[in-house]
Amino acid sequence: MIELINVSKTYFSRKRAIQALDQINLTIQANEIFGIIGQSGAGKSTLLRCMNLLDRPTNGQVIVNDQDLTQLSPLQLRQARHRIGMIFQHFNLLHSQTVYQNVALPLKLLGQDKTTIARKVQAMLEVVGLADYQHRYPAQLSGGQKQRIAIARTLAGDPSVLLCDEATSALDPRTTLDILELLRRINQQLQLTIVLITHEMDVMKTICDRVAILDQGHIIEQADVVTLFSQPQTELGQLLTHACLQHELPVSLSQRIKPTPQSSTAYPLLQLYFVGESATKPIMAQLIQQTKLPINIVQANMEYIKQQPIGVMTIEVRAQPVELENIIRYFNEQGLTVELIGYVH
Ligand SMILES: Nc1ncnc2c1ncn2[C@@H]1O[C@H](COP(=O)(O)OP(=O)(O)OP(=O)(O)O)[C@@H](O)[C@H]1O
Ligand SMILES: [Mg+2]
Repeated sequence: MIELINVSKTYFSRKRAIQALDQINLTIQANEIFGIIGQSGAGKSTLLRCMNLLDRPTNGQVIVNDQDLTQLSPLQLRQARHRIGMIFQHFNLLHSQTVYQNVALPLKLLGQDKTTIARKVQAMLEVVGLADYQHRYPAQLSGGQKQRIAIARTLAGDPSVLLCDEATSALDPRTTLDILELLRRINQQLQLTIVLITHEMDVMKTICDRVAILDQGHIIEQADVVTLFSQPQTELGQLLTHACLQHELPVSLSQRIKPTPQSSTAYPLLQLYFVGESATKPIMAQLIQQTKLPINIVQANMEYIKQQPIGVMTIEVRAQPVELENIIRYFNEQGLTVELIGYVH
């Protein structure tokens, strides 16, 4: 388990103070895959580096596996860090060393004997599917293979936590999926807690159990991934998830939307979010049957996140304000989240 209590981090550069993190409180459970997302400069890398004290918080406590890292001596901290692995966007392999030597590095630092090291390196390379690559150099590997080696090297130290800073950002979509699958597998097989930073919502929805959105050093939203995608609470949450659900309205339509009706021919535009069971019920058909109102589906999209169907639909309802209330109530009763986005003119 990782617990951050009131963690703040201020950088001082050229006499200017930069508040990268402001009073962060966060609990990440053992064995979960936790995602941190946010725009560039939000403080994601700083937050991750605070989790192993690569960056020391200006204030606050960082508790990993029941140990407050901020209270440890340098020696104790070095030992605690062995149990907190980290992988990066650019892999950080030693280029003059072979794959074997790269993976063996943490074991050497731990002072283990040659036979143990050889056995462990072999086992870790098997975990990442590159058992035959021991004698290659990093330059002879693809990006995905380099990241696998970086993961093997980290796993060699028997970490209980794996911190990933944009670990798939330098990879193509197919290779990204392969690496995410590997991370999911080691999360389950080795009972690893994984904290993952990314700016790609696709990565979040593929692998994460829970997600936090970081904005200007604050956690503005935190939820399990299905809730985040189906009911984002903040404007930034909506921006990130809607873009990912590919639910941008065409410009020709969005230009005609006003917040209030300005003529009797202005029709309300509703956005409906379906989750789980409600995504598969014939809700729209029933409504049309009951009300006989013309309902025009402007846009619709459905995705599966963690085997849960999540749908977004934008509909134009040719209804009067009184009828609209009933319709919204009907949708709510069916378990849908409804948002009135405005009136089309
Ligand atoms: N070593 C440093 N010295 C001074 N300022 C820093 C340092 N590291 C980060 N910052 C500042 O702290 C803020 C947060 O940076 P951070 O790298 O954590 O953002 P990020 O969310 O990881 O961004 P990106 O998505 O671009 O990687 C930024 O304003 C950045 O300029
Ligand atoms: Mg970063």
